[in-house]
Amino acid sequence: MSDRAVSANIADTFNYKVVRQFAIMTVVWAVVGLLVGVIIAAQLIWPALNFDTPWLTYGRLRPLHTNAVIFAFGGSALFATSYYVVQRTCQARLFCDKLAAFTFWGWQAVIVAAAISLPMGYTSSKEYAELEWPIDILITLVWVAYAIVFFGTIVKRKARHIYVANWFYGSFILTIAILHIFNNLEVPWGWFKSYSAYPGVQDAMVQWWYGHNAVGFFLTTAFLGMMYYFVPKQADRPIYSYRLSIVHFWALAFTYMWAGPHHLHYTSLPDWVQSLGMVFSLILLAPSWGGMINGIMTLSGAWHKLRTDPILKFLVVSLSFYGMSTFEGSMMSIRTVNALSHYTDWTIGHVHSGALGWVAMISFGSLYYVIPRMFGREKMYSTSLIELHFWVATIGIVLYIAAMWIAGVMQGLMWRATEPDGTLTYTFVEGVKATYPFYLIRLMGGVLFLVGALVMAWNTFKTAMAGEAVNNPVIPESLADHSKAQPAAPASVATAQV
Ligand code: HEM
Ligand code: HEM
Repeated sequence: MSDRAVSANIADTFNYKVVRQFAIMTVVWAVVGLLVGVIIAAQLIWPALNFDTPWLTYGRLRPLHTNAVIFAFGGSALFATSYYVVQRTCQARLFCDKLAAFTFWGWQAVIVAAAISLPMGYTSSKEYAELEWPIDILITLVWVAYAIVFFGTIVKRKARHIYVANWFYGSFILTIAILHIFNNLEVPWGWFKSYSAYPGVQDAMVQWWYGHNAVGFFLTTAFLGMMYYFVPKQADRPIYSYRLSIVHFWALAFTYMWAGPHHLHYTSLPDWVQSLGMVFSLILLAPSWGGMINGIMTLSGAWHKLRTDPILKFLVVSLSFYGMSTFEGSMMSIRTVNALSHYTDWTIGHVHSGALGWVAMISFGSLYYVIPRMFGREKMYSTSLIELHFWVATIGIVLYIAAMWIAGVMQGLMWRATEPDGTLTYTFVEGVKATYPFYLIRLMGGVLFLVGALVMAWNTFKTAMAGEAVNNPVIPESLADHSKAQPAAPASVATAQV
């Protein structure tokens, strides 16, 4: 329903404008972030591609890539879907339109500030928290506004039950606030430089407490919120086990917090802390797989839909990669395995099996569900283009991660190989030379993945042109007062009736 058609009280409508804005920007930032990924992948083969220009050097573009894909692409996808899901499942309009609009413009301002300051070389040098302190403050303001909008909507909800997807989104919002504030405690030294408030190994510990939980709550828990809404909706089946989803939530939230030290094996961090990180990372496999199984089993009785529904294909493949990357992560956190994998491209393979396979694929699937609804359509402009995107992206991921796994194990083995007299069998440069073919395969995989995103951008553009922007659709009467109609058993909520 369009703006014009809405005469109903604004309080009885959804705020789709901000969802649409974030959804569109997700597609835009996907293309930008992946393009920068492809450029740095190419630079690793042909270093001359920096054209001797400081702001095009690998060291500056690499954090631009990670910030663009995680915070611009992933972040916008999370804002878009969390705003959509919280409204639909609470049957209430977002709390405070103006604050919601501030989160959109504020978040885009953070991204633009990152896109300018990182290539200029301004960095706090903490991975995934490179942005300097004035931008950190803007992030904090946007995040507080996000929390008020999200939890404000939960408070004014008309449905009695708080659907499990909102628990996942909510914990992500709270945890990221805490992580961001504590990891970025720093002493400003002018407008563009700051020094961490923590000394030495404590700084490393706080950084990887942050870093790992950024993976755990930004790249995992929040996307599980997506999973718990969009998989049942697209499959048109209830969640396999609502009870398991609650156990999954609490087990994951508790366990993730302790696993950070696996990033600091064999460092000056006390041994017992490293072992603690390793043990919790192994325990983490249980809730991770519990969640994956819950998602995949939701398709029971709907497997035949996979033949014709490319959106479901995105969602199911993303869950498979979630399972694979969490299994791999738990194995890599075992110290003796990490002795081989650390510093090698195996880590990069692991990262991208999680990032491309899980994060990006579940985002694409969910957005293919949301975008047409923002333009008053049931479906995207072209289903065959979604199918094409799916296959191009999947082949791209396989090339990327298989190349990095082989390269990583090869590097680890070459670095540790010794002659009987104790000298190294290979020089470091021999390892680099042996890696080139795999860098080329990774680049090809990355290009395919980028092509898939461009196909999505075209499909989104055509969908927007063919439809009409929906801003304030009325909350359907059948959904409007669920406090009476909704049976108490939580499983009924999971039938995705919202
Ligand atoms: C049970 C779940 C997981 C565990 C136990 C785990 C464990 C690990 C381990 C041991 C490393 C290597 C640390 C090192 O040697 O430096 C690592 C790196 C990493 N993992 Fe995972 N992982 C898990 C899931 C994931 C997922 C799902 C993603 C992405 C969506 C992910 C993203 C990353 C990233 C970005 C790094 C690189 C960090 C860096 O050094 O910059 N992980 N993980
Ligand atoms: C076209 C697809 C992509 C390509 C070609 C690509 C390429 C790269 C390259 C070349 C690196 C640096 C590796 C190194 O230092 O040896 C990197 C790092 C990274 N990328 Fe990507 N990337 C892509 C997509 C993504 C996506 C979608 C995400 C997240 C959602 C992501 C997250 C990361 C992270 C977290 C790192 C840092 C890993 C670490 O420090 O261990 N990438 N990427």
